[in-house]
Amino acid sequence: MAKGLRSRLSQYGDEAFALFLRRGFLKGAGYTDEALDRPIVGILSTASDFNPCHGNATQLAEHIAKGVRLAGGLPFVFPTISIHESFSFPTSMLLRNLMSMDTEEMLKALPVDAVVMIGGCDKTIPAQLMGAISADVPSIMVPVGPMLAGRHEGTRLGACTDCRRLWAGYRAGSIDDESLERAHSKLMPTTGTCMVMGTASTMASLAETLGFTLPGAATAPAVSSERMRLAEASGERAVAMAKAGGPKPSELMTKAAFRNASVVLQATSGSTNGIVHLAAIAGRAGIRYDLDELDAIGREVPVLINLKPAGEHFAEDFHAAGGVPALWRRLRDHLDMSARTIMGETLEDVTKRWSNYVDDEIIRPFDRPVVEGVALAVLRGSLAPDGAIIKLSAATPSLTQHEGPALVFDSVPDLVARIDDPDLPVTPDHVLVLRNAGPVGAPGMPESGALPIPKKLGSKGVKDMVRISDSRMSGTAFGTVVLHAAPEAAVGGPLALVRDGDIITLDSAGRRLDLKVDAAELARRKSEWKPPAKPKRGYRRLYVTSVTQAPDGADFDFLAGKD
Ligand code: FES
Repeated sequence: MAKGLRSRLSQYGDEAFALFLRRGFLKGAGYTDEALDRPIVGILSTASDFNPCHGNATQLAEHIAKGVRLAGGLPFVFPTISIHESFSFPTSMLLRNLMSMDTEEMLKALPVDAVVMIGGCDKTIPAQLMGAISADVPSIMVPVGPMLAGRHEGTRLGACTDCRRLWAGYRAGSIDDESLERAHSKLMPTTGTCMVMGTASTMASLAETLGFTLPGAATAPAVSSERMRLAEASGERAVAMAKAGGPKPSELMTKAAFRNASVVLQATSGSTNGIVHLAAIAGRAGIRYDLDELDAIGREVPVLINLKPAGEHFAEDFHAAGGVPALWRRLRDHLDMSARTIMGETLEDVTKRWSNYVDDEIIRPFDRPVVEGVALAVLRGSLAPDGAIIKLSAATPSLTQHEGPALVFDSVPDLVARIDDPDLPVTPDHVLVLRNAGPVGAPGMPESGALPIPKKLGSKGVKDMVRISDSRMSGTAFGTVVLHAAPEAAVGGPLALVRDGDIITLDSAGRRLDLKVDAAELARRKSEWKPPAKPKRGYRRLYVTSVTQAPDGADFDFLAGKD
């Protein structure tokens, strides 16, 4: 295949003319012929004023470009859409597949010999990995890096675990306006991604484990010089990959690599979103992500990383403690250490050259885990025949075995309208059910699964209840929350048939989630069920007609697998 500027020429039916035009435009932009003969490294920048987590993306792109030039390559910075959690109505997940298509198609359209992708905020790393795997261009991921922890009146604060804790206290009346406002300006003290083990930190750690980053790149703080040096080194490495033509994503994406990712997901008590994203990323490589394997790993691998929300510390502490390679070393009996990275080395090679220092308080030894027991468990049963997820490490232990009557919210708007109604017929024993909030139903599977505790109970000190939905929850959230119930209500899954007062049994130990209603009654309800109306046009039409269920990653069915 042609390389550099000669690759992927616009098809006029005359390739020499296409190259003549392309060179001409770039000469017009000030490039010399000598520069244009170099290997080309694309730098995918997701800088956007609407993405404050990526506030350092332009600076990172400059350092990557410096590395590319130092190694004799020619850098080209280009954009794709950029997704931030707080600027994505109705939900960022609706846009993840669009960003992955943008990434894939730009990598297939542009004359890049290799690409360095700058991502970080929750959906961006999954979207970029999905796109890069489908395009199969040599690719390096440079996460923007986590924020530093906030400091407020003697306490360290982390977005957004403490955002949620403070807001819950405010709703319950234990925190007043003034205290909330003082803490507000300390919650996000720098640019970068949320600095707890939320979805961004989870996905950066998984990208490093899948071999897509330089070692240490998941955890170095966004505002550190180390982050900038990693960017420069990534640019240099990309030139070597551009010259060699690899390694390509298809050389890294094996079943063993995804099993390794599941091990790290459990050991970090990572975000439940990581499960959906791993399923989508694996799907692009033609690999079915194995939920049962994830569950089995959880029974063997305890939570070792002491970061909020399961633990106490922050991403900068994980980095100082040794970072992801130090975790690999600790997990070596559970990982396939022969899995390869974009450096051309194995996980074993990386751990051998990595500093031997490890902070046992942050990266715990097996005999002193952060949480006794399983982090992420996969439930099945009459309410979720194709699976549901519970993050046991963030749940209230006394609620993980629970039986109670259902209180059903038919949609996210219904939840918003009624949850704080003083007349809501709810007790602490109720199981709050939210439906029509899945991939098709919402659409886009928003992070509404951690339903707020009804004000009338919160104000009496109730902090947690069993909550079940077909939606997702933020990786920074906590509670006894069952998520991703599949099939979802909007495609006729059993969640659609639940009525107020039905008894639901959550048996986390037995990995069961059941609706105690007899089959004949359920069949009668099913005969009355009607699917919701679909959007008539545009991307949302494409989305609801093509999106898969959570166990398949909520990707588009036509994007899975290889060309
Ligand atoms: Fe961007 Fe949390 S909102 S990482």
